[in-house]
Amino acid sequence: MSVDRRLFTPDGSDPDFPVPISEDCTVPTSQMAEMLAATLGTGTSVLELGTGSGFQTAVLASCFADVVSVEVQPLPGVQEKLPANVALIAADGCTYDSGEQFDAVLVTFAAREIAPVWVKQIREDGRLVVPLRIGNSSRISVYVKRGDRLHLEGVLGYAQFTRRVLQQDGGARPRRHTPGVPPSCWTKER
Ligand SMILES: C[S@@+](CC[C@H](N)C(=O)[O-])C[C@H]1O[C@@H](n2cnc3c(N)ncnc32)[C@H](O)[C@@H]1O
Repeated sequence: MSVDRRLFTPDGSDPDFPVPISEDCTVPTSQMAEMLAATLGTGTSVLELGTGSGFQTAVLASCFADVVSVEVQPLPGVQEKLPANVALIAADGCTYDSGEQFDAVLVTFAAREIAPVWVKQIREDGRLVVPLRIGNSSRISVYVKRGDRLHLEGVLGYAQFTRRVLQQDGGARPRRHTPGVPPSCWTKER
């Protein structure tokens, strides 16, 4: 499942630390990306919220047959780097509802809370991996869905993730916009 991280960093390097590519995004280390993918379990489909550079998405695509990845402020050129089993969606991942269920959901930005729409899109026994904000850090929490509820299965550890970006219009509808040009109606969660 080895993905060449150099394709996703701005200067084509592969340093052993997260690489910032914008105010709201860093490219994770290979170790982190692979650990998150492995924690999602062995299903066939995954929903990722926060595409960023596409590196984590590419790692997911090497492990899962179907990957849907949602990004609130898409960067240019990401689609071209990703394989055909990835669908990219421009939307607010906290309100986007695909109408489908996935074997796993991975959130790659620091969230204050679990959005109900994430739970809805996980199948029975499927997993949610989400960095939940605690002060300036995030607790990477792993949940399993049983019935309509999530059960905390464990904590992977603590790390810094960039914060959720909010669409001030509510973001209920996927939007058309130019990649790399953030609309003025976005703000950062406090
Ligand atoms: C830490 S970066 C993700 C890095 C990514 N995993 C990679 O491999 O490059 C977090 C991403 O989440 C995105 N994001 C923040 N809030 C979001 C939201 N409400 N819905 C969808 N994406 C969001 C940010 O724009 C940013 O690209």
